[in-house]
Amino acid sequence: MDAVDQIPSTVDLDMVRAVFETNVFGVIAVTNAMLPLLRRSPAPRIINVSSGGASLTINGDPDGPFTGLPTSAAYSPSKTALNALTVQYANELRKDGILVNAAAPGYVATDINDHSGFLTPAQGATLLVRLATLGADGPTRLLQRGRPRALVAVGRPGASTARGDAPGVGAGQGAWRAARCCAPRRPARPSPPACPRPAR
Ligand SMILES: NC(=O)c1ccc[n+]([C@@H]2O[C@H](COP(=O)([O-])OP(=O)(O)OC[C@H]3O[C@@H](n4cnc5c(N)ncnc54)[C@H](OP(=O)(O)O)[C@@H]3O)[C@@H](O)[C@H]2O)c1
Repeated sequence: MDAVDQIPSTVDLDMVRAVFETNVFGVIAVTNAMLPLLRRSPAPRIINVSSGGASLTINGDPDGPFTGLPTSAAYSPSKTALNALTVQYANELRKDGILVNAAAPGYVATDINDHSGFLTPAQGATLLVRLATLGADGPTRLLQRGRPRALVAVGRPGASTARGDAPGVGAGQGAWRAARCCAPRRPARPSPPACPRPAR
């Protein structure tokens, strides 16, 4: 299956369940399994790998950068749920000094998109490493924009709002590898458009 198989009105519900199993329920299982170890760390950090496809703001904009992409009932909503989950974990674990963030790496050349991404895996990892090595006063629960050099949505623990989401063209993989139900394997446009910068 390909991205077209995720179109809401015709999607196979079992495939949607499989995607959520990996991208949402799997994250809860892994996070909770790791928490005892994280609590023993001097600098515990959790980074959930999200996607620009998670952004309700971007997806809801009829003139937005994803307008040309197929609609999705699986991958994008699962990443939206992951963002929501990130906020809930961040709120719970802030008092314990565990910083929890979601990040979108951008459109990275990996197996899932047949290596059509315009970022290398090393470039895609840059943001994740930055979030994994945040200082104790670093942000938590805030969704970081995908461009490795464009960290926005900056805030501090206790900040009341999270602004912005990453604008990468969402590609990804999970238990649904067999179903190939990830985001579009190739961008619908020759090159992804510039990412809108959230208003400050
Ligand atoms: N590439 C992009 O442009 C892009 C953009 C936005 C977000 N992301 C996100 O980045 C993350 C990594 O994706 P990627 O691009 O690196 O894709 P990838 O190269 O296809 O790697 C996916 C990895 O996930 C593992 N995996 C799949 N299902 C699993 C499961 N049920 N349990 C445990 N491991 C599982 C795969 O393991 P096996 O090889 O053993 O199957 C593989 O190592 C995903 O969360 C994706 O949504 C990617």
